Amino acid sequence: MANGNLTNAKNAKNDEFYTQYYDIEKEITAYLEYNPDVFRGKTILLPCDDPEWSNFTKFFAQNFERFGLKKLISTSYAQESKKYKTPYQPTLFEVNDPQYDYKKTKTKGKIFTLTYDKQGDGRIDVNDLEWHYLEGDGDFKSKEIKKLRDEADIIITNPPFSLFREFLAWIVEADKQFVIIGNMNAITYKEVFPLIKNDMMWLGNGFHAGNAYFSTPTVKEYAEGVFNSETGLVKFRNCCWFTNLDHGRRHQPLPLMTMNDNIKYSKHKELKGKEYLKYDNYDAIEVPFTDAIPSDYHGVMGVPISFLDKYCPEQFEILGITKTWFGMASKIYPEQIQVSKTGEKTLVTKLNDGATILIESSDVNGTSYIVGNNHYKQVYARVLVRNKHLNKVD
Ligand SMILES: C[S@@+](CC[C@H](N)C(=O)[O-])C[C@H]1O[C@@H](n2cnc3c(N)ncnc32)[C@H](O)[C@@H]1O
Repeated sequence: MANGNLTNAKNAKNDEFYTQYYDIEKEITAYLEYNPDVFRGKTILLPCDDPEWSNFTKFFAQNFERFGLKKLISTSYAQESKKYKTPYQPTLFEVNDPQYDYKKTKTKGKIFTLTYDKQGDGRIDVNDLEWHYLEGDGDFKSKEIKKLRDEADIIITNPPFSLFREFLAWIVEADKQFVIIGNMNAITYKEVFPLIKNDMMWLGNGFHAGNAYFSTPTVKEYAEGVFNSETGLVKFRNCCWFTNLDHGRRHQPLPLMTMNDNIKYSKHKELKGKEYLKYDNYDAIEVPFTDAIPSDYHGVMGVPISFLDKYCPEQFEILGITKTWFGMASKIYPEQIQVSKTGEKTLVTKLNDGATILIESSDVNGTSYIVGNNHYKQVYARVLVRNKHLNKVD
């Protein structure tokens, strides 16, 4: 179940997952290590937040002076507009404030801003945040929040999982810098991959082993192993940060072995003593593991999408992705017979949406396809790359 958590969240229209302070700190530190002035003089917008208790707001407010920020803006989405309804209790902070309005607290978003030492205690921090209700519900697509977006230099958040594509497009259309959380599978979307290919977006420093732990008010819906009752956190796999801020890790080249050494010494049984297979419908070889990319192969290689977590733009060139919409396939198959593991046969057309490998007969270990007299298996979505050092044009 852990694997499909973001998908489940989407199906349940549940976007209520909150980021841990530690994860925000670790990620933001990577950008600061690369460029200590990355936030200096900048206005940061944290949309889709709940500023009264968001760790994003807390983290940036506490570090306002250290980062040299010009302005911090944080906005929340109205309780009644949220797709996933949970019991709502306004915070004491809000209820005890003279501005408190029992109707607005449910129907309006809130805005928190930080610019100066309001308390007069000689420092600008979380105690100097000022707030009021928004005119609208805080929807990032509204005119009101778009105006804040346009004012900001950098947008940072964990956006609603169910609206990831729209949220990214909203940032890109305004040409802003950003650091946002998403699922690695988003790389295969036609709205997302071109940004990566054109070096307009890359993966951030990242969560440890791609596992992210969020707090949520809906913990009861998760099975043991996904929800940890000791920490109160829900585990999501394949989570990453997407950004256009630079960091050091992405400039570290991957250490690689030659093709012969991989075949001799690979820790993967799929490669050791075997050979690298050629696709039938792409002019490329199949590299099923990022650590098995051969250092001496000049041609195009299909690598797992998780390669992008290790992608160093000085080492590799990204050429495409094995998805139909990208249009790099060398052939289109007519209708195919899909043969399931149990031998069940159905007519399908999905073989075209991926790279294929010619096999001798139907695959007993998984799904395979028959076209005419040929049998094929389809591999997962692959990013097509080429080694830049071996293809230098002087
Ligand atoms: C994944 S949560 C992250 C919350 C917070 N940024 C954090 O990381 O702790 C996304 C939040 O966006 C809110 N949201 C959903 N749709 C929204 C919209 N159209 N505009 C603004 N916020 C929205 C959700 O209600 C949810 O609270």
